[in-house]
Amino acid sequence: MRLAAAELVDSREILPGQWLQAYHAPELADGSRAGQFVHVRTGDFSGLVLRRPFSLNTADLATGIVTIHFRVIGRGTEWFTRLRPGDAIDLLGPLGRPFEVDPRGRHVLLIAGGLGMAGVRMLADEAIRDGRQVTLLFGASSAREVYPSNLLPDEVEYVVATDDGSLGHHGFVTDLVPDYEGWADQAFACGPTGMLRALAKQAEGRRQRLGVAKLGRKRGAGRTAALGSPAARRKAYLQVSMEQNMGCAVGACLGCVVMSVTGTPQRVCREGPVFASEELAWEGAWT
Ligand SMILES: Cc1cc2nc3c(=O)[nH]c(=O)nc-3n(C[C@H](O)[C@H](O)[C@H](O)COP(=O)(O)OP(=O)(O)OC[C@H]3O[C@@H](n4cnc5c(N)ncnc54)[C@H](O)[C@@H]3O)c2cc1C
Ligand code: FES
Repeated sequence: MRLAAAELVDSREILPGQWLQAYHAPELADGSRAGQFVHVRTGDFSGLVLRRPFSLNTADLATGIVTIHFRVIGRGTEWFTRLRPGDAIDLLGPLGRPFEVDPRGRHVLLIAGGLGMAGVRMLADEAIRDGRQVTLLFGASSAREVYPSNLLPDEVEYVVATDDGSLGHHGFVTDLVPDYEGWADQAFACGPTGMLRALAKQAEGRRQRLGVAKLGRKRGAGRTAALGSPAARRKAYLQVSMEQNMGCAVGACLGCVVMSVTGTPQRVCREGPVFASEELAWEGAWT
């Protein structure tokens, strides 16, 4: 984790109320991984004290550019839209634990709902760079809210669902998942909690639906990876990136916890934001 100086180089409204900003922050571009986030301080004159968390949308080591993609919902995000190229801010990061891709996996399924695109976008770059095939399922309320396909790498298969049927599949993005669960080695999702809960439920029954039997012992099959460890996430079919309101973002205030299946509170900023879906207690009041 570093406090990196960042200079705004580009700021664009890519969808109504949604902005894509590019910052020159070479210290951050080096070593950040998909699923991690930055905590950003608004300017002194804004009168806003708390930093605001944003997923690292992309990070390019060659140019030193990182991007964030955000929706304007309150004073902090509105303040960012008034920044102009050349303005400097500081970014605290990279924070949190990243997505873990099984090195043997060839087929990566990404599932994003709305602003959840920002949570999985960088994983598309990483997976393609590593020679994997990527399908991205994206859900939005209507065509007006659909993430522009020209902002995605050409190699990505992009499939859209809209609630009102104005573009792509008419219905929820979760409706599309069964068509891909036989193809995908792993799935990675970010979006509203209701969407993530539905995906976790779908993932539970996947092995039985696909008829995957547990036959004999594979090498290492007897060993179980510790809950919450990178190794456990790497083995999980579905990993989710959670969002909770945050205070400190460094594990001190306990303002961001969700509950694990073992009843141990998990800080989204430290143990997350990425979790294996089976680690979390989806039916409780804390998730
Ligand atoms: C790990 C993480 C990654 C995130 N990544 C992104 C991202 O890539 N793009 C993006 O647009 N947003 C992201 N968010 C949410 C983003 O941090 C909030 O939208 C932002 O802090 C709101 O700031 P504000 O000052 O504009 O709104 P405020 O005035 O602080 O709040 C306005 C409204 O938004 C709600 N709110 C505030 N903070 C959050 C939050 N963290 N999550 C959900 N609702 C919140 C408040 O309860 C209130 O109703 C992320 C949150 C987390 C925890
Ligand atoms: S935001 Fe303070 S512990 Fe996570």
